[in-house]
Amino acid sequence: MSVSRGVTVRVPAKVNVRLAVGGARPDGYHDLANVFLAVGLYDEVTVAEAAAPAVTCEGPGADQVPLDRTNLAVRAAELLAARHGITPNVHLHIRKDIPVAGGMAGGSADGAGALLACDALWGCGSSREELLSLCAELGSDVPFSLVGGAALGTGRGELLTPLEVGGAFHWVFAMADGGLSTPAVYAEFDRLNRGTEVPPPAAPPALLEALRTGDTAGLADALGNDLQPAALSLRPSLAATLAAGTEAGALAGLVSGSGPTTAFLVKDAEAAESVAAALRASGTCREARPALAPAPGATVVAGG
Ligand code: C5P
Repeated sequence: MSVSRGVTVRVPAKVNVRLAVGGARPDGYHDLANVFLAVGLYDEVTVAEAAAPAVTCEGPGADQVPLDRTNLAVRAAELLAARHGITPNVHLHIRKDIPVAGGMAGGSADGAGALLACDALWGCGSSREELLSLCAELGSDVPFSLVGGAALGTGRGELLTPLEVGGAFHWVFAMADGGLSTPAVYAEFDRLNRGTEVPPPAAPPALLEALRTGDTAGLADALGNDLQPAALSLRPSLAATLAAGTEAGALAGLVSGSGPTTAFLVKDAEAAESVAAALRASGTCREARPALAPAPGATVVAGG
């Protein structure tokens, strides 16, 4: 087994350009047709050998990141160690830039990052399939954090089909104060849809075609998030953020995943700067950041 002093992995955030949600399943999850797009906002996970397991975290919202076994990076290290009979004596350091509990898969990114970093540190040599299956055990969005690019997620979102993307898309993300709990947003979705027949989830062909051809206007027309009414119900102030972004010239805006981050698709880099400035000035968000998509999946950037 190779031994190295430390390995750093960089992992992107995601936005769901179409999050189609079906009815609740007997296991409590929801069947999805979830079109993921990786965006260029990144967390970094560094792992190094240590005398005993330790976790540290820095960056915006770091004080809200749990440092116990509910942290997906910790669970990823433990899961991989258990598979290989290794004692997980590692120091995990997470450098956050993805909003915490923001609907951009920041926790999932840290899980995928820790898995890839520990695999390199311990010389496990796991195949892509093995890593993807461990990711799916960790959470529905974790496999996508590993692969990046764009993909259709079915099942509870963990069964991925890669999608072709024919160009770069410019986005602005408006970060909100505090987070939203994903289970709470799904529970609100169930409450809002009680007594109605929820149709089986599907990804619209026009959206897949817009991604394939790099057609920003076509993608703007086809964006959609079935969790948006639930996120708005739990956080009504997001309506003002959405209005501020579209009034500032965004082609379209939507809640990212389970929120509360809002995502705005814009025409080009110049529009991204002006929409971000207008959102910051609007006072309807904590911060606004331009980002480009698609972004690559989890990548070893140091050590390994
Ligand atoms: O898979 P993960 O642990 O990320 O899911 C977090 C929570 O989000 C689940 O416990 C469930 O409440 C909700 N969820 C869901 N349907 C999905 C994915 C997540 O209801 N397809």
